[in-house]
Amino acid sequence: MNTVNSIQALREQVLGWKKAGERVALIPTMGNLHDGHLELVRRAQGVADRTVVSIFVNPLQFGEGEDFGSYPRTLEADSDKLAGINTDLVFAPTVKEMYPKPQSEQTRVEVPLISDILCGESRPGHFVGVATVVCKLINMALPDVAVFGEKDFQQLMVIRRMAEDLCLPVEIMGVSTVREADGLARSSRNGYLTREERAIAPALYRVLQQTAESIRSGKRDYATLEAQANQTLKETGLTPDYFKIRRAADLTEPLDGDQQLVMLAAAYLGKARLIDNMTLDLA
Ligand code: PAJ
Repeated sequence: MNTVNSIQALREQVLGWKKAGERVALIPTMGNLHDGHLELVRRAQGVADRTVVSIFVNPLQFGEGEDFGSYPRTLEADSDKLAGINTDLVFAPTVKEMYPKPQSEQTRVEVPLISDILCGESRPGHFVGVATVVCKLINMALPDVAVFGEKDFQQLMVIRRMAEDLCLPVEIMGVSTVREADGLARSSRNGYLTREERAIAPALYRVLQQTAESIRSGKRDYATLEAQANQTLKETGLTPDYFKIRRAADLTEPLDGDQQLVMLAAAYLGKARLIDNMTLDLA
């Protein structure tokens, strides 16, 4: 497995593969890799001949007071894991390589409306940072397919919209959430949890399951279900940021008769902000 730090070396490698008729997948990450990330690589290997994993902690998507400085940077361990599952190339650029100009001069990509709700409301500017870096990474690598986790449901939706609106010549592929045995969605930020907090954390998934059960059994008063979910999360020791039941197609509030729903939740626990979601097909 090769590791490159420059855009030029990345391009040369990928162009070589494409000239040889090979299909290339890009898996953007911020590193500190866990089984969820590795599952994206495995799934990519099923649809492409070559896999490129980018590892870049993107300053543009962190707000003031967030964990950009303390975000775990574990390139050596990450490289070992990726080599272990036959990843072809790691792209690990510096901030200077990705953003040669001062942040205030950087062109940004904004996906309106869905970037401003839910996580975007709590983290202003976050999805502009995500859309900008993913757009740049896709333009740098020029992959045939780019792979993302459904764990970050809103992020995946922002990226799909961006690719569609900007006519990016790439297929966007989503992969189901990889969970711990007790249901907690795998996340680099789970490492921030103390042992006590780690025992509480699976409540987020449990409440999603309970709410799904209520909806499947016929309850349709979504505001009440959301309030109950928030209450249960509080009683369990989490500090809910939001728990929302929305239309899966565009994350707006469900209308009578909508059958494709998604429940999205975010909650603080110690130093971590946990997110999770679950789709519901009522058809
Ligand atoms: P990061 O949090 O490192 O996640 C990289 C990719 O892994 C994302 O597509 C995310 O949805 C996916 N992922 C994380 N946990 C997962 C899990 N438990 N199951 C399945 N997939 C999972 O998301 C980012 O980085 C950044 O915002 C990025 C897209 C790289 C842009 O900087």
